[in-house]
Amino acid sequence: MLDRGEGVHVWDEDGRRYLDATAGLWYRNVGYGRGEIADAAATQLRRLSAYSTFGDVSNRPAIELAERVADLSPDPDSRVFFTSGGSDSIDTAAKMARRYWQLLGQTDRTMFITRENAYHGMHVGGTSLAGIGANATGYGSFVSDVARVPWNSPNALRETIDAATPERVAAFFCEPVIGAGGVFAPPEGYLEGVRSICRDAGVLFVADEVITGFGRTGDWFASNRWELQPDLITCAKGITSGYLPMGAVVASPRVAEPFWNGTAGLWRHGYTYSGHATVAAVAMANLDILEREGLPKRALELESDLADALTPLAAHPMVEELRAGTGVLAAVQLSARAIDEDSTLPARAVRACREAGVMTRTLATGGLQISPALVIDRAELDELGDGIRAALDSLT
Ligand SMILES: Cc1ncc(COP(=O)(O)O)c(C=O)c1O
Repeated sequence: MLDRGEGVHVWDEDGRRYLDATAGLWYRNVGYGRGEIADAAATQLRRLSAYSTFGDVSNRPAIELAERVADLSPDPDSRVFFTSGGSDSIDTAAKMARRYWQLLGQTDRTMFITRENAYHGMHVGGTSLAGIGANATGYGSFVSDVARVPWNSPNALRETIDAATPERVAAFFCEPVIGAGGVFAPPEGYLEGVRSICRDAGVLFVADEVITGFGRTGDWFASNRWELQPDLITCAKGITSGYLPMGAVVASPRVAEPFWNGTAGLWRHGYTYSGHATVAAVAMANLDILEREGLPKRALELESDLADALTPLAAHPMVEELRAGTGVLAAVQLSARAIDEDSTLPARAVRACREAGVMTRTLATGGLQISPALVIDRAELDELGDGIRAALDSLT
């Protein structure tokens, strides 16, 4: 039972301190205990907690946040649609992509392409787009018009689009760095390759930045870093650093235009908490901190510092591979042979880390998730590396 948090640490009800290696669930970018975010929430709660933004009513925090997120995105003329989290954002982007093609009269463009190892949330849309097999099976088919391609091959994407015929494909969903599927950084040239394949085929490129958005890979969006100019960006988590739940879809001018051209009519889509005034105020306070403390830039420095702190673990007998070096993201992949011999190993490793003062969890591949807050310092990186080593030693 956790009780409180400060910086990169959390404390349980017995007063034990842990270094939070996962930043909650990849979201606590500014760290715990930020009083100014709490103050922003309290002020807004007293003034106007929330009001539905359906129709023609809005509120200042939501409008200001939309403008700010668009400004931070690769194209400041983008439009921003607020949701309650990442899975909402994926469903919204999927509907937006389909609707876009319907508005353009290309009604056969219904197919989505996703990647192996991909995680796009738990709603019906995200489950259909799952590249982690275990998350997709056991439900029958929700959205049937989905093709899966290997996570690392632009050629496979090109062949899949050609086989389907480009006029059938609505959108390609792509995490710039695969997160829950195991932390896989894009191979050299991969993102540029798939981006240009989508552009050539007219297929919408959806960057799923639910993890990578708001600093984690060294820029406001990974799409800025890799100059992707996506048609749609899905985001959540870091927009508020998880202080309150929120997500968003950033629609580039290309996608937004037919929705706004006067003939499209009302787009009947939205959530009760879309544009929630208090959550928007919290997001603004969070972005103030990210900006003032230069945390996206700090994340770029941290990507090698984090890799340096974890690299010694690569030689540990319990470790198969260390994946680190792109953003403040890493996976300590446990030995496949050891997991084969004892399938409880990943769960035991997580428990041992906890006993050694580090909170983490396992990823789909049997790796330990490392994605600390962007405020982690040198001593805390050592604490992280030492804690995991002590945990692994205790298992051997
Ligand atoms: C890349 C990606 N997309 C979508 C989601 C779903 O977000 P949420 O859990 O907020 O619904 C996640 C959650 O971890 C994610 O990592």
